Amino acid sequence: MTSVRANDHAESPRGEGAEDAGCVATPAKTFGDIVLARYSRREAMAGLTAVAALSLLTPLRSGVARAAGAAGGSTLAFPEVPHGESETHVVADGYEAQTLIRWGDPISAGAPDFDPLNQTAERQSQQWGYNNDYVGYLPLPRGSDNPGRALLCVNFEYTDTHLMFPGLKDGEVDTVTKEQVDVELAAHGHGVVEIRRDDTANRWSVVLDSPYNRRITALATPCRVSGPAAGHPRLQTSADPTGRWVVGTLNNCAGGKTPWHTVLIAEENFDLYFAGDAAKTAEADNHKRIGIKSTSKYAWSRFYDRFNVDKEPNEPNRFGWMVELDPYDPKAVPVKRTALGRFKHEGATTVVNRDGRIVAYSGDDERFQYIYKFVSHGRFDADNRDANRDLLDDGVLFVARFEADGRLTWLPLVWGTGPLTPANGFASQADVLIEARRAGELLGATPMDRPEDVETNPVTGIVYVALTNNTSRKADGVNAGSPRGPNPHGHIVEMIPPGGRGADRDHAALDYRWEIFLLAGDPKNPEHGARYHPGVSENGWFSSPDNVAFDRQGRLWIATDGFPRYGVADGAYVTDTEGAGRALTRQFYRTPKGAELCGPELNGDDTAYFAAVQHPGDSKGSTFDAPSTRWPDFVQGMPPRPAVQVIVKRGGGTVGA
Ligand code: FEO
Ligand code: CA
Ligand code: CA
Ligand code: CA
Repeated sequence: MTSVRANDHAESPRGEGAEDAGCVATPAKTFGDIVLARYSRREAMAGLTAVAALSLLTPLRSGVARAAGAAGGSTLAFPEVPHGESETHVVADGYEAQTLIRWGDPISAGAPDFDPLNQTAERQSQQWGYNNDYVGYLPLPRGSDNPGRALLCVNFEYTDTHLMFPGLKDGEVDTVTKEQVDVELAAHGHGVVEIRRDDTANRWSVVLDSPYNRRITALATPCRVSGPAAGHPRLQTSADPTGRWVVGTLNNCAGGKTPWHTVLIAEENFDLYFAGDAAKTAEADNHKRIGIKSTSKYAWSRFYDRFNVDKEPNEPNRFGWMVELDPYDPKAVPVKRTALGRFKHEGATTVVNRDGRIVAYSGDDERFQYIYKFVSHGRFDADNRDANRDLLDDGVLFVARFEADGRLTWLPLVWGTGPLTPANGFASQADVLIEARRAGELLGATPMDRPEDVETNPVTGIVYVALTNNTSRKADGVNAGSPRGPNPHGHIVEMIPPGGRGADRDHAALDYRWEIFLLAGDPKNPEHGARYHPGVSENGWFSSPDNVAFDRQGRLWIATDGFPRYGVADGAYVTDTEGAGRALTRQFYRTPKGAELCGPELNGDDTAYFAAVQHPGDSKGSTFDAPSTRWPDFVQGMPPRPAVQVIVKRGGGTVGA
């Protein structure tokens, strides 16, 4: 998620990044303290003020020429899209945005067409879900690098009830019917469709008669629970006394792919769907820390006891996990991998470490929450897919602590070690994983500014984290890794594993280094304290980085979520990460009014860029009946529809180049 308002947590009923009961006290340092402590060793800035010192550091990592020129140095050649806001989207000149699939589109040949005034759960279960977020391109055949045929694996994060059904206003839950709730449940989850490119026309389309096409829904898809918390009493409910089977997956935000060609589906703000008096339950502190409130903006708890924590206090413990799905097996059961911990997973991205172990990075997207990595015990076997099937069930979860001197330490969440003992309420590893946030706090993890997507640069092996924003951080509460308080525009951090470049880095190491890649905001406004490459144009700066992806050349594609608070539509920005164009972000695509941008993803040879436009028309006061845009159809009576766009260069070729 989320919309403009949702991102501003203090005002948001949706709660992404809502005030965090588990926030640990941050050391009382100022921006200047951190900056000076962090950079003085390298930049010899003794005696300078912090901001003046920082201005010498643009871009912030050493080895980049500061005087690279107003727009020079970038390997990106497209004309920039201007900042602005409009009812339709805007793509760079020379490119074409094709609508691949929209909310309500049938996903198979026999599925019903979309009829917004007669929507049912049965129809929705056979159609594309709402608010597409993560996009994964998994080539066909499996294991190939086919740039023109693939399974598109997409998360459906949440529903905007007031934009899906007539006669409702935002937040008006009392009149929502059970039939509408069932549509919402069926619109959540995940979708897999086969897509193909017509090479002659350079056009992409969905293959409706593909045997792979399927929907995973929160209404009806059984998900298996695996790993150390599977079957634990805290996961048992009246509907599932085994604690091993959950109906559906919720608030599926970003995700990732594994080297054995499965997708990872994150469960993020699952607290939003629950209501009831959590304080009366044995899970009171746990539910409070994860953000469950007595009321919900959704009507689900009125019709389903499992969303009422009074009645089913353990149901929330069955969400907040990382879910693995094999999209190449249309009958595959999604699996909740508890070894990766329970929190508000933004996504999870994997690396095959140089010793063959799998490392999965994941951020917990809430203010003052943490960055984690999981390191498998077993090693990846490229020749035996089945041997990798349960690699994510057995390993060690770590949480990150950023030091002011540039070191980054990974702290293990292992039961019985350090503070993770019965004395602190942890009776087993399952308890540690269910309450990963509390475990991380006790270990001394660094509270960050809403960790969103994490991706590893395929060229350098350096790991990038988007910290989207944190307006609650105080000026005297900055810390290593979070140098601005408040931080309304966010930043991007590099986590640098030891070892050589690229695949030679050791992602299983306990000690990394960290750097700030860029500080978002307007570089011309001194109050923002923004820092990029000095050549960033008036259209190239941005706010609130969220989902990110790398192309094969190691260029970072950034999708934003929160720019509309400043009167600019969210969009796609792209930059080199090395050389003279480092941190020289340029705007490639702009979403229609009220939307945020998700995805992003590229095909096997970077000739197609997939952008998931989420919640178009979710502007203040906008409704199904009177939306702020009817994108992408622009047909009277048709509501705005979240949709996946595929953007190609006219005449073909590498996008961005
Ligand atoms: Fe769902 Fe953190 O974005
Ligand atoms: Ca988002
Ligand atoms: Ca996101
Ligand atoms: Ca990503």
